[in-house]
Amino acid sequence: MQVSLIILAAGQGTRMNSDTPKVLHKVAAAPLLHHAMAAGRALDPVRSVVVVGHGGEAVAAAARAFDETAEVVVQEEQKGTGHAVAQAAPLLADLPGEAIVLYGDTPFIRPETLQAMLAARASHAVVVLGFHARDPGRYGRLLTQGDQLLAIREFKDATSEERAITLCNSGVICADAQTLFRLVAQIGNANAAGEYYLTDVVELARAAGLSAGVVTCDEAETMGVNTRAQLAEAEAAFQARARAEALENGVTLTAPETVFFALDTHIGRDAIIGPNVLFGPGVTIESGAEIKGFCHLEGCHVSRGADVGPFARLRPGAELAEDVHVGNFVEIKNAILDEGVKVGHLTYIGDADIGEYTNIGAGTVTCNYDGVMKHRTRIGKRAFIGSDTMLVAPVTVGDGALTASGSVITEDVPAEAIALARARQVNKPGLATRLFEKLRALKAAKAKG
Ligand code: UD1
Ligand code: CA
Repeated sequence: MQVSLIILAAGQGTRMNSDTPKVLHKVAAAPLLHHAMAAGRALDPVRSVVVVGHGGEAVAAAARAFDETAEVVVQEEQKGTGHAVAQAAPLLADLPGEAIVLYGDTPFIRPETLQAMLAARASHAVVVLGFHARDPGRYGRLLTQGDQLLAIREFKDATSEERAITLCNSGVICADAQTLFRLVAQIGNANAAGEYYLTDVVELARAAGLSAGVVTCDEAETMGVNTRAQLAEAEAAFQARARAEALENGVTLTAPETVFFALDTHIGRDAIIGPNVLFGPGVTIESGAEIKGFCHLEGCHVSRGADVGPFARLRPGAELAEDVHVGNFVEIKNAILDEGVKVGHLTYIGDADIGEYTNIGAGTVTCNYDGVMKHRTRIGKRAFIGSDTMLVAPVTVGDGALTASGSVITEDVPAEAIALARARQVNKPGLATRLFEKLRALKAAKAKG
């Protein structure tokens, strides 16, 4: 079955009190919009149309960053959810197959729930996703009779009996695309808010002799984000679920409540994650790898058997092959570490390629930036970089070569050579004692005045 998505993301989100459009605020290191698009993507949609308004350019860019085939339509003025959906009509109204409306500020709808809605389309022309609200507040109420949905009543327009209903509208709607747009075209704005309510399609469908029905989901799925407090709640809800899923998938979390995942974090079975670890976007940890406490990772890949930390930072483009060891106070960025490389302590590796089984001594720095451009450091296999080596890039160290501790390497080092690039040591016998005597005498003279 062919599915198109319409994702509403034009609202300003006034209650966020922000210059950033609401759907670009992040949960799990990803814009809210990406969460909604990720749920929709699981249906393998033929078209994804994002309706933007406030902060349109930035929202459009975020939509395309998630899915380069996403299409964007602009709703110049926010006249209501029905009006927002109508903006997608030129792209979708004649398309065969299903259309599903999602909200960009509602991140947790599960793909399984959307599948259930598609399945319910066998019995109803219009399917609405509802939930039983603990506190129905200002949600639209679902007026039902048997398995029929009679109407959705917005809070502002509801009678006190209708307000007593706890079955509420999540906002997600599914219908045949052509039917949906035919109904949307008929929506008026004669209501308490003077808005074009998408919710009116239910009564319009029934007036046309079509049936409408409800699929329900857990209230947690329909959680929308309207305030910073709700953003924080959404983050907590996401993390709680991600931790439970990781444990379920066979990942050891020593202190689950201190580990933070991103929307796209992938961790293999039998990986071990220590306390206070933060995963930014784009991290893959293979089976059996270990991330010790207090690490910060983003945009990186850690292979089987590798261990990282404690207190390590892996930044975008860090690629750790099997059995790599990265120890404490090490930062790695845009660098490929081949199998068995060891970087034990206090080191910066940026823009580098390091061959298998090379050892990088404590205090090594790849000096990758000359103030204008970035340059690459290439180190061969089984090389030994002495402690406190400065590798001034661009520079190459050959296979099996060694750099002496404290060297500033500005020229390429041939394979199997030793590079010594530091001042030669000179010892002055007895000079330390004579120097201290002189200094003490000076101090005593000063104290006397
Ligand atoms: C809507 C529903 C309500 C439901 C609730 C669930 C309608 C009329 N009401 O109410 O039944 O219980 O969601 O959260 O649909 N948007 C646009 N353009 C607009 C208006 C809204 O893109 O002109 C977007 C918003 O950015 C938001 C979504 O649509 O993502 C919902 O809009 P919002 O104004 O929050 O709707 P509610 O009044 O909460
Ligand atoms: Ca809302």
